[in-house]
Amino acid sequence: MNKDFLTTAHFSTDELKGLIDRAIEIKSDRLATKPLAEKSVALVFFNPSLRTRASMQVGIYELGGNAVILEPGVTSWTLEHSDGVVMDGNKTEHLKEFVRVLERYVSAIGVRTFAALEDWETERTDPILSAFAGYASVPIINLESAMHHPCQSMADMMTIREHLGTEKKKVLMTWAWHPKPLPMAVPNSFALAAAQFGHDLRIAHPKGYELDNSLLEEIESQATARGGSIEFTNDVDEAFDRVEVVYAKSWGSKNFYGDPDGDIRERAQYRDKWIVDDAKMSRTGDAKFMHCLPVRRNVIVSDSVIDSPNSIVIDEAENRLHIQKAIMTELIK
Ligand code: CP
Repeated sequence: MNKDFLTTAHFSTDELKGLIDRAIEIKSDRLATKPLAEKSVALVFFNPSLRTRASMQVGIYELGGNAVILEPGVTSWTLEHSDGVVMDGNKTEHLKEFVRVLERYVSAIGVRTFAALEDWETERTDPILSAFAGYASVPIINLESAMHHPCQSMADMMTIREHLGTEKKKVLMTWAWHPKPLPMAVPNSFALAAAQFGHDLRIAHPKGYELDNSLLEEIESQATARGGSIEFTNDVDEAFDRVEVVYAKSWGSKNFYGDPDGDIRERAQYRDKWIVDDAKMSRTGDAKFMHCLPVRRNVIVSDSVIDSPNSIVIDEAENRLHIQKAIMTELIK
């Protein structure tokens, strides 16, 4: 298995299914094994979190280990990641020392580093996460980077399997209006994992909110190889027809990186239209509703949908714990 867990693209479908098998076993007997006994894992958070931070910290504890939580610029020094920089600005420590010191203490490092939504061509390469992986000899676990959130998408695939079985499903991933542009990591990783698991995936978004071109090529190639399919629509009503899973998420347009106000002006026309509500859900095949959380109620999804029996968002959040324990068990030896 790959040393790091940066994106599901680095793993075969059999390896990913094996991780879900393991997570389901772990879920059935949460405290059965302690593979991290006497080991520590660093969790580096450049950005806020509820689910990721709590589930990683609890998961490490339940596996017998110790979590070391660091917040660069808050509880540890500000960090520079670019090579060859004259560090006479506001960054105190270089990632090259940070990582190589930390790995003398810990057996793996988890990293959360969101897109700044400033420079698409740079951020699409995941520069900070890539620098961690490049400097580290211990496993690096992506806890959401500029481009990927693989722990989330694996919890999503596990949740679909638990609720609907292992056969492929008709899955809609729909963009939703949000007052400000958000990173694309969750939709990127959900679409990629859905393709890797062979689901029939429909992606709905307004014109101008397309995902990254080379990632879409990878998603299309994975869908073909795994017996699934992928289709795109800009029609937010027809998008819901006959699907079995509705996965809602808002994201920013790559055309407006560096210009958030431009994105906010562009998306204003979609307010009240691109929301998951009862009328749209009634077009589905009694679909389950999913969202990675946090979610803005009555903006992304109506109260009636997220509070309905078909909403599985809390199970989805719980599964973050179990899948991350499976990932750590496989990676940290
Ligand atoms: N879904 C998710 O990653 O949640 P947090 O941002 O709260 O960690």
